Amino acid sequence: MNIAVIGSGGREHSICYKLKQSNKINRLYCIPGNAGTSEISENIEIDPNDFEKIYQTVLKKKIDLLIVGPEIPLVNGIVDFFEKKKIKIFGPNKKASQIEGSKIFMKEFCEEFNIPSAKFKKIKNINQAKDIIKDFELPIVVKSDGLASGKGVTICNSRKKAIEEIDKILKGKFKTSKKVIIEEFLKGEEASYFVISDGNNFVPIGTAQDHKRIGENDTGLNTGGMGAYSPSYLINNEIEKKIKNKIITPTINGMRKKGYPFKGILYAGLMIYNSEPKLIEYNIRFGDPECQILMMRLRNDLLNLILSSVNNNLKKEKLIWTNEPGITVVAASKGYPEKFEKNYEITNIKKIKFNSKRQLFHAGTIKKNNKILSNGGRVLNATVLSSSLSKARKIALDILNKIKFKNKYFRKDIGYKVIDR
Ligand code: AMP
Ligand code: GLY
Repeated sequence: MNIAVIGSGGREHSICYKLKQSNKINRLYCIPGNAGTSEISENIEIDPNDFEKIYQTVLKKKIDLLIVGPEIPLVNGIVDFFEKKKIKIFGPNKKASQIEGSKIFMKEFCEEFNIPSAKFKKIKNINQAKDIIKDFELPIVVKSDGLASGKGVTICNSRKKAIEEIDKILKGKFKTSKKVIIEEFLKGEEASYFVISDGNNFVPIGTAQDHKRIGENDTGLNTGGMGAYSPSYLINNEIEKKIKNKIITPTINGMRKKGYPFKGILYAGLMIYNSEPKLIEYNIRFGDPECQILMMRLRNDLLNLILSSVNNNLKKEKLIWTNEPGITVVAASKGYPEKFEKNYEITNIKKIKFNSKRQLFHAGTIKKNNKILSNGGRVLNATVLSSSLSKARKIALDILNKIKFKNKYFRKDIGYKVIDR
């Protein structure tokens, strides 16, 4: 088969890396990809939101299947567009994508199907907000309804701050939506749970723990993710059973009942407190950088799993994992997630030996005149499996120490709650 992966991050590089191991693949493309994907697939420079242009390429290159990495094209309806053209594509359609694309949809859905989640209220206007927040204990969580690249959530320690934040969103702080909700603050520890679904059945496809904050000890601004490890040490068999029975199964069944069967990767962001999981949010795709570790820990042929979702026959799939845990550490450009520079030359990659247990996935990188340059905030992901997380982290940090680029920054404490406890 000829396959194209859509996206340009570390997630998409690791998906290409994993797909390359399948013997069913003839040609592999990445749209638009990065310097890393260009080594193992052919990059095609098209904006992932330009569906018509992608379609022309699908015809020209005889592409049999599209695999979508990021959420924005999914929320914009890329799956509906290609299904209409009878082109196979992996991921949820526009209606099903609302579960990430609209927090209001997601919260009302949870209410309708009794899925444990934080108490919430929709805000209609600022006066109603002033009234409602009296019933909410501090801190109050204020959320923009639409996609906001991880910036749509503010945890407010005073009612005054909550009102200010609500006012900003109502006045158009986020381009995607002026709608806003407030939520009760959930205590506990976070974990990520991934499943692949064909709309009727689902198969768990890994657990992970992400580190979203820029600074060590989880301090500073929120980012897309500065590192992660898998499996999550919070999710034991008992908690997993609750996640499946109380959260995932009612979601897959509920979405089907509403007429929006969910096909693709469903990523549940969970808060676990006193062994009880609650849903914080849903994402409709793999996490980045969590995906990078899952792709190295998974033993199955990824393409078979994806085809089972696309062709509605996932039921028979059994997943096989390496016993070893894995960690990924993100090297960013100093200044990220705010202002940062691009076009720094990256050197020394060729001096490091990589194998099936140590990989360097590229995120914001680009090849120019045979040099690899930084091209984004998150630049590289050192991803390592080993007999312990502590050993894996040491190797990942060694890799990032050896690689040189100006203003390189990475957290050295990924996994600290497990490793350094
Ligand atoms: P979200 O974009 O909904 O995933 O939220 C981003 C982050 O905000 C989450 O990973 C949590 O750390 C935090 N968060 C969101 N909602 C809540 C909540 N109701 N209670 C506590 N923390 C929350
Ligand atoms: N790493 C968090 C995310 O992909 O949303």
